[in-house]
Amino acid sequence: MLTFEFEKKQIRMKEIQFEFKVRTYQSIDELPEISRNLLLQAREASGRAYAPYSGYRVGASVLLENNEILTGNNQENAAYPSGLCAERTALFYASSRYPGVPIRSLAISTLSNDQAAGDFAKPCGGCRQVIAEYEDLSGKPIEIILDGSSSIMIVDGIDALLPFRFKKEDLGKKKK
Ligand code: THU
Repeated sequence: MLTFEFEKKQIRMKEIQFEFKVRTYQSIDELPEISRNLLLQAREASGRAYAPYSGYRVGASVLLENNEILTGNNQENAAYPSGLCAERTALFYASSRYPGVPIRSLAISTLSNDQAAGDFAKPCGGCRQVIAEYEDLSGKPIEIILDGSSSIMIVDGIDALLPFRFKKEDLGKKKK
């Protein structure tokens, strides 16, 4: 009788479940004042986006530990990959203006678009990685506020949106 190798092996596979927490709010009026103000600025910034190619306008606002608020929006380009997302525009602006100052919160809004009710803003993978970089730099979690037409979602750090992320430690180099 033929016995295949895999039939003799003991299988040690385990299934592990990870969880993440999201706070949801029905409307912007339910948010604490500081978050409400930040989100309003993200909404305003989305209206100023330069998005002639996709027609999809995104706004982001960043609250720093020194209480400064800086905003950004998506900037598109005829050479498509040369454009940049709203989140990165805002985060890079904040870091270039106030290098090393920890980021407390980031709000993202797409509400200046006509979009399906019930949906909410979601940062792309590249932006999640950039949020993670600044979180790791300060060692403090960044609250992320995702605006939506029928609910607003808030997570208390990038772990919820980017588990098992690539970190500078993975490069085998010491933190500076
Ligand atoms: N966009 C953002 O600004 N943020 C995201 O997280 C997702 C996508 C922009 C990029 C591009 O200008 C347009 O939305 C369509 O992808």
